[in-house]
Parts: sequence; C-alpha cells; structure tokens
Amino acid sequence: MIEMINISHEYDGEQILHDISLIIPDKKFIVITGESGSGKSTLLSIISTLLKPTKGELLFDGTLIKKIPNINHFRNQKIGFVFQFHYLISHLTIYENIEMVTKRPRAEIEELLSKLDIAQLANKYPDQVSGGQRQRGAVARAMINRPAYIFADEPTGNLDSKNSQMVFDLLRKLDATVILATHDLSRIESTDRVLSLKDGKLC
Ligand SMILES: Nc1ncnc2c1ncn2[C@@H]1O[C@H](COP(=O)(O)OP(=O)(O)O)[C@@H](O)[C@H]1O
Ligand SMILES: [Mg+2]
Repeated sequence: MIEMINISHEYDGEQILHDISLIIPDKKFIVITGESGSGKSTLLSIISTLLKPTKGELLFDGTLIKKIPNINHFRNQKIGFVFQFHYLISHLTIYENIEMVTKRPRAEIEELLSKLDIAQLANKYPDQVSGGQRQRGAVARAMINRPAYIFADEPTGNLDSKNSQMVFDLLRKLDATVILATHDLSRIESTDRVLSLKDGKLC
C-alpha cells in the first residue's frame, strides 16, 4: 500500500501540487490524468520516490520513505520505471538491456520477451525495431525483477494508436501496483481508479 499525506510541491517558490492525500492499495491499476502542465509528472515522480516533496509524507507499507536507509536498494527491489522515451541503451541488444538489470536466468528473460511478443527481436538493437517494440522492451526491463510497483510516465507518448493500446493493455494486466500518468484516457479500457489533476489539485 502507498500512502501520500498532505503532499505539496514547489519549484523555485511556485506551488505546483496542492495538499494531495491518497491511499493506493496493492495491485491496483491507477491512472493519473490531466492537461499538460497540470502536475502529472511531478506527482508521479513524488509517488515513485524519485522527487522529494516540499511538504508532506510518503509511506510504502506503513514505512516513511524518508526513513528508509538505502533508497536505491529499495527502488531496485520494489520499483520498475517506464518513460515516454524508452531509455534502452542503444549499443546493447534488447536482450542485453534486460540482462544488465537482472540476475534472473536466460530462460526467464526469454519467457518474458515471448509474453510481450518480442522474443524474435531479442538480438536486435533498439534502433532496429519499431517504437512500439522498443517500448515493449522497456516494459520488459521494468518487469523482469517482478517489482511490486510499476510507474509509467506517458509511456505511449510517441507511439501510434495500435502500439499505445498494446502497451496500455500490457500495463493494465500486470500483477503489480501500476501507476500510469497519461493525458490520453481514450484508449484505456478499464482502471481501478482515475486521479484527475487540475492545476496541481485532485478533482
Ligand atoms: N524541474 C522543474 N522546475 C521548474 N518547474 C517545473 C519543473 N518540472 C515541472 N515544472 C512545472 O511544473 C508544472 C507541472 O509540470 P509537470 O508535472 O511536468 O506536468 P505534466 O506532467 O502534467 O505536464 C508545469 O508548470 C511545469 O512547467
Ligand atoms: Mg508529464
């Protein structure tokens, strides 16, 4: 379970998020939506522990994040990230990009690639496959260590509608808490909860 208590955030003295409190139970598919500039990425960065809020508390399973001694270790163990621009390493193959973040055996990596329908591309480099295939590679990398939480910020921002649909469906079906920030709700079939942001407030 993730809890946010009275979270506010300022950049350079300008308040961007206003007093946000919410509870996210385990294994839910949560979508954060709102117009460009409404604060989605800021909120997602805070929930995912990457950005320390100006005010308020963040807890994972009842533990204050600021009290966790080794936050990098915590992130590696528990959290997977997917971003708009896939951030796969260009001089490594799709397979090698996943291999480098995990101790899981080859068979398990291959099984995951099959599940995402990119097994045949394992030995290709990121710029040799389509945008949608690359993004599925990035999702595979986020999933391979079976994190309890997956955070995705506009993961379909540069994909066409068919590939967007595929990435959304994939995220929706994961056996994890998935929190997705997107300005485009139209292709998301179902969610456990939609958080709408307007000018940094939940509405
Ligand atoms: N690192 C930053 N420094 C200063 N202002 C920022 C920074 N990141 C975002 N902002 C501002 O915060 C507001 C919310 O941005 P953001 O969280 O990226 O919204 P969204 O993801 O919904 O487009 C915008 O006005 C943006 O310009
Ligand atoms: Mg954003």
